[in-house]
Amino acid sequence: MEDIELLNEATQEAEAAEDSRALYEVKMKFLGRTGKVTALLKGMKELAAEARPAFGKKVNALREALEEKFAAIEERLKKRELERKLEGEQIDVTMPGRHTKAGALHPVTRVKDRLIDLFSGMGFEVFEGPEIENDYYNFTALNTPADHPARDMQDTFYLTEEFLLRTQTSAGQIRVMEQKKPPIKILSPGRVFRSDDDATHSPMFHQMEGLVVDKGITLCDLQGMLDEFARTMFAETTKTRLRPSYFPFTEPSVEVDVSCTACGGKGCALCKGTGWIEVLGAGMVNRRVLENCGVDPDVYSGFAFGMGIERIAMLKYGINNIKLLTENDVRFLEQFKD
Ligand code: PHE
Repeated sequence: MEDIELLNEATQEAEAAEDSRALYEVKMKFLGRTGKVTALLKGMKELAAEARPAFGKKVNALREALEEKFAAIEERLKKRELERKLEGEQIDVTMPGRHTKAGALHPVTRVKDRLIDLFSGMGFEVFEGPEIENDYYNFTALNTPADHPARDMQDTFYLTEEFLLRTQTSAGQIRVMEQKKPPIKILSPGRVFRSDDDATHSPMFHQMEGLVVDKGITLCDLQGMLDEFARTMFAETTKTRLRPSYFPFTEPSVEVDVSCTACGGKGCALCKGTGWIEVLGAGMVNRRVLENCGVDPDVYSGFAFGMGIERIAMLKYGINNIKLLTENDVRFLEQFKD
């Protein structure tokens, strides 16, 4: 009867096993080296010799029955474990992906890079001058002596009598012409400063200066280059217009307009009904400026232009307040991703 009891006990415990590990423990408890069934076999030597074969047969039958049971239960458990594992590893390909916030370039940087790209394609090299300039490079050498009224238009932040935060990248023109003999074709991007502050002006902004000096350079060269600039920066259909203006360092000087980026020239609120928008100042380099830099104005001529990068960015992206460009509001900046 002992064998039936053992069979029942082992079966019950095996059925209760939660997983194949627990089942293994049960198996060891009965069939292991110190297990209960093994102990029965070991106890056989205490029996009378004639009783042994029948007893051995019974115990072996019990062991076989148990092994069969365990194998069946093990198979069931393993199957369930595999199913659970597969379930846990299931991938829902329709689930939305995890987002990593990608940064984006600031609109001013984008426009600056685009301009450098455009002009370097025409053979311009980039030159960067210092943000703290002296009076000579920022004004005097640009034909704007101390008592010149044009200085008022570019009032700025003086550090000492002599040093100031530059008001224009035009200061770079002088530095380049002092270092280099013509032919010269440079582009000078950078930060400039003026005591100006309203919806379209800020005390700090960026300019992009261009300077070309060589033999036989004319205003037509300037205009042709500006057409290319306007078509690339705005739209294929954008037109340019030159209006007479005044800068001490160019003669003649022009203000450059482009056909309105919002209405295409019909007249709207942005262009105040005129169809045109002013984008930059330019002109033929003044003889005096060439002379100041040791360039012979009877042999060489040149043109220069200077534009506000913020202004171009505002027109290109339809931004109506320059402050948006320095507030660093992510909701605003996020819109300038590719
Ligand atoms: N420096 C001028 C300004 O800041 C722009 C300009 C540059 C005009 C070059 C003519 C030639 O307003």
